Amino acid sequence: MSRPTIIAGNWKHNPDRSTGESLWREVVDGVEKRKSQLEKVRVLVIPPLPWLGLLGSTPVSQVELGVQHISDCPEGAFTGEVGPALAHQFGARWCLVGHSERRTLFGESDAHVAKRMRAALDHDLKPALCIGETLEEREAGLTQEVVARQLEEGASLCQETESIVVAYEPVWAIGTGVTAAVEQVEEVHGFLRETLREKWREGADEIPLLYGGSVKADNAGDLLGLDDVDGALVGGASLNAASFLGIVDAGIFAL
Ligand code: PGA
Repeated sequence: MSRPTIIAGNWKHNPDRSTGESLWREVVDGVEKRKSQLEKVRVLVIPPLPWLGLLGSTPVSQVELGVQHISDCPEGAFTGEVGPALAHQFGARWCLVGHSERRTLFGESDAHVAKRMRAALDHDLKPALCIGETLEEREAGLTQEVVARQLEEGASLCQETESIVVAYEPVWAIGTGVTAAVEQVEEVHGFLRETLREKWREGADEIPLLYGGSVKADNAGDLLGLDDVDGALVGGASLNAASFLGIVDAGIFAL
């Protein structure tokens, strides 16, 4: 078993055009400089859709692109939707599914998530299934129940041998500056690995488990050093090239 380390920058609804152009250039240059150390580290940028059109038209070998959300509607009269086939044609190879902001702000249910996971896999996009508990759920002792349900239902239309990624992102740690403690991450990731082994016997150990929630260059090393943490999903810190590259370095060092 050898899982890659994945460092993914989720730009969310940022940045503006001029800031984004220099951010992208600095990230690409920084990754290029580290090329010889990236054999087992994959670097992803997940920008808003207009950026995908721009960045995807001049692919660079070391930085892969993803989308933050995909539609599971078929091609046709679905105003405002973008499905996995179109995203793939414009350079995306990855997609986030069920990010907590999609779940809480845009009403995405586990059933939607399951359909989008299926749609991604059917069109050669590698889906990262995002799961995580709210603070209330954690305080009520429901963390394992919540993440197990989100995993089980979100992946319910996937086959055992299909290639997916799971991103554990406690909702209370996203964009708050509060990172989960190393022990909390270790506990949940260990639980998720066991749950995957029970459900996905064959492919369980091949599935990378990412952590997300206020990951920064200065806490990435401790998190990525954990056995069952195979990468980071980075929001705020991915909008600054030096911070993001610092997390890439932590990923290289953690191997
Ligand atoms: P954050 O976001 O790093 O800003 O907490 C992480 C995410 O939402 O993926």
